[in-house]
Amino acid sequence: MKHTDVREILQSAGWVGKEATVCGWVRTARDSKNMAFLALNDGTSLTHLQIVIDKNAGTALPAEAAKLGAAVKVVGTVVVNENNGTHEVNAKEIEVLGVCPPDYPLQKKFQKLETLREMPHIRVRTNTFNAVFRVRSVMAAAIHRFFQEKGFVYVNTPLITGSDCEGAGEMFQVTTIGYPEPGKYKNADEYYADDFFGKKAGLSVSGQLEGEGAAMALGKIYTFGPSFRAEKSNTVRHVAEFWHVEPEVAFAELPDVIELAEEMIKYIIRDYMEKCPEELKFFEQRFQPGLTEKLMNVLNNDFAIVDYTDAIELLKKADVEFQYPVEWGCDLQSEHERYITEQIYKKPVFLINYPKAIKSFYMKQNPDGKTVAATDLLVPGVGEIIGGSEREADLDKLLAAMNERGMRLDDYADYLDLRKYGSVPHGGFGLGFERAIMYVTGMENIRDVIFYPRTVGNIR
Ligand code: 4AD
Ligand code: MG
Repeated sequence: MKHTDVREILQSAGWVGKEATVCGWVRTARDSKNMAFLALNDGTSLTHLQIVIDKNAGTALPAEAAKLGAAVKVVGTVVVNENNGTHEVNAKEIEVLGVCPPDYPLQKKFQKLETLREMPHIRVRTNTFNAVFRVRSVMAAAIHRFFQEKGFVYVNTPLITGSDCEGAGEMFQVTTIGYPEPGKYKNADEYYADDFFGKKAGLSVSGQLEGEGAAMALGKIYTFGPSFRAEKSNTVRHVAEFWHVEPEVAFAELPDVIELAEEMIKYIIRDYMEKCPEELKFFEQRFQPGLTEKLMNVLNNDFAIVDYTDAIELLKKADVEFQYPVEWGCDLQSEHERYITEQIYKKPVFLINYPKAIKSFYMKQNPDGKTVAATDLLVPGVGEIIGGSEREADLDKLLAAMNERGMRLDDYADYLDLRKYGSVPHGGFGLGFERAIMYVTGMENIRDVIFYPRTVGNIR
């Protein structure tokens, strides 16, 4: 259908005085005896395009075109509104493309985010989600550009896998067997042997293990795809299906991993601020006062780097009652992470050198025998958005760590090969894409930054 994007009509001076055809959905309609006004949105811009209907000039407004949510096509002349200087269209012809009956769920002006979550296919028509998804798209492009400009190779790691990267037992199983007849299989091994892949398979929680293999050949790689976690935690920052950005770099040690992460975060924030000023303003007004200043501070300051052991001391000295008590060796809870980044440092913090017992098997063991060269990036308002580490490049140390955890070495044969053939220091990290979007938009629930959130007990 030949037409012009609302975004272009609003932004380009060249359209003034010309006839244009625009299509969109009616966001508001005001109808009086002589004049009528429609606010039209086609999804290309957060701002609506005003359609002016002068009934005395002979333009007819079909009754169905003045209904909230109706889809219309308008032909008219682009003019400048004298009061506010924005472009609008003086309509000549209005055609209804699709009627919208009064049970359309967005009748009320303000709907709670919770209510909107019940209808992902409809909420995407609101200003909030228009802004969220445009920012998401711009950020995704920025991530690719960042890595491409630095010479990283984009690698697609498998989503169906036989090895659990994080070893946390959070893999969704992939099977075609379903419920077998009772007595059909004597044990699990028989069952899996009969299954589609001939062994137990699941949805990948991370592309890191395969990513390391790629980095041992291509040097610098990144993945950007979905990861799956069957975590039963019903929180504002966990979904069962999230998008994961995972760079992996050969010849990189922990400080290099940290430097890369900080550079990437700053790059994508700068790009977002430049490309989405309207959305940023919207989020600032509607969801997080001070958002712009917060992001400017991120751009203009170094992130903190804090040793886990020092962080524990700081938390112990804190004069707040944590729900979970703090001791060296404990895994940090969201409340601790947020205290460190929001109350103590008031900026993004890389926590480093965690106790090995609370981290994954593949992390490089530090000479102290107690900690590993791991880092989590904690940010105010969200908590952990990145988890990464230098990897254990020494075969014997890696085997020891895996044996300590009772892992099945057979499932990790490829991974172990990497330590046999030309092993080098290397490292990388995983960024939770949704958490990054929460951070830059101020949206407080991860369910509101992904189109169809998958969470425990919910698969609409
Ligand atoms: O800290 P995680 O578990 O680290 C890894 O998976 C490593 N293999 C990454 C690597 O070094 N290549 O996950 C990385 C990030 C977290 O910091 C978080 O932002 C995000 O992935 N994440 C989730 N986001 C939403 N919902 C969930 N259930 C998530 N689990 C992890
Ligand atoms: Mg983590």
